[in-house]
Amino acid sequence: MKTILITGGAGFIGSHVVRLFVIKYPDYKIVNLDKLTYAGNLANLTDIENLPNYTFEKGDITDGPWIQQLFDKYRFDGVVHLAAESHVDRSISNPMEFIMTNIVGTVNLLNAARAIWSNDLSGKRFYHISTDEVYGSLGDEGKFLETTPYDPRSPYSASKASSDHLVRAYFHTFHLPVVISNCSNNYGPFQFPEKLVPLFINNIRTNKPLPVYGKGENVRDWLYVEDHAKAIDLIFHKGTEGETYNIGGNNEWQNIQLIQKLCEIMDQKLGRTPGESAKLITYVKDRAGHDLRYAIDATKIKNELGWEPTIKFTEGFEATVDWYLQNEEWMVNITSGDYQKYYEQQYVKR
Ligand code: NAD
Ligand code: TYD
Repeated sequence: MKTILITGGAGFIGSHVVRLFVIKYPDYKIVNLDKLTYAGNLANLTDIENLPNYTFEKGDITDGPWIQQLFDKYRFDGVVHLAAESHVDRSISNPMEFIMTNIVGTVNLLNAARAIWSNDLSGKRFYHISTDEVYGSLGDEGKFLETTPYDPRSPYSASKASSDHLVRAYFHTFHLPVVISNCSNNYGPFQFPEKLVPLFINNIRTNKPLPVYGKGENVRDWLYVEDHAKAIDLIFHKGTEGETYNIGGNNEWQNIQLIQKLCEIMDQKLGRTPGESAKLITYVKDRAGHDLRYAIDATKIKNELGWEPTIKFTEGFEATVDWYLQNEEWMVNITSGDYQKYYEQQYVKR
């Protein structure tokens, strides 16, 4: 039986990865380590939390001695590292949290893995999940390849780039068996509603303004979160040691076009007159240093591992809207802050 550590498993992408691994691999013991920051929500995992191969550990990856104790206790065979501060806007107002969690936290995990695996590296794997934002900003043409030089431009992307470099350094210097992936923007259920898609769904539902940064001309490459989780599963098990894989949706949208599409779907779902939701669009001051365009070339993972997105954007996007509308209680608990009491009720008072 393998014991796998998944960090950040109470967050958006992490919760999908935990669910996939816990259900698909009943022979694995899955330990979800999460600090439960504002972005961590155990209500994302209620359907699997009582399964026998799942354990939750509340803790902070910036606490090196505690991380080492955790590795000594469980003797993990593998690590899937998703815990991070992940919101660009927050990284502009408070960069230090990003330096601590994304850089120092990652090094604590690398050190702990190195310490327990020092005698025997066979069958071990440290998988670091990263973002396409490390490559910087594209003009109208071209896509990011694994070989594109790093050019991070926000404190968030700079902290992720730094952690990617450190993971590679541990591979070259200490032969730690690592693998890295860099993915484009994800959408889907359980995303914290300060990111574009869930924020705008909630604002349309509650008739609040939709704050479009700048002219809405920025372009993102959107991937359904379950397709990302499947790619993570594949890379964790089949990816080549020391390699990096780009993951993307091959699905570029200018922000304003995506928002118009969302407004159309919301009008239909809420029985509103066509055009009503779009009236909420409000152009606001642009994000500082706002990257113009991200686009991933995912040829390597397709050729080497046979991965491609399986969910068509039109289906995934509508399913996402349906999910947020059907799970209003989840959204209300988040926006009221009540979800942060869940840990107390579920894990402390039992
Ligand atoms: P998220 O913000 O929804 O979740 C992050 C999780 O990490 C939360 O549960 C939070 O509580 C936890 N966490 C934060 N600081 C911690 C700490 N110090 N110790 C332990 N846990 C801590 O983020 P997400 O969108 O799910 O992103 C997950 C990973 O994927 C990140 O590494 C991010 O850089 C990467 N990524 C995200 C996207 C995207 O579109 N969301 C795209 C590409 C890559
Ligand atoms: P976001 O979900 O924050 O992801 P990222 O910045 O990591 O790509 O934002 C997606 C795009 O939407 C990005 O170009 C910024 C823009 N945006 C807005 O225009 N308004 C908003 O309120 C938010 C949160 C984002």
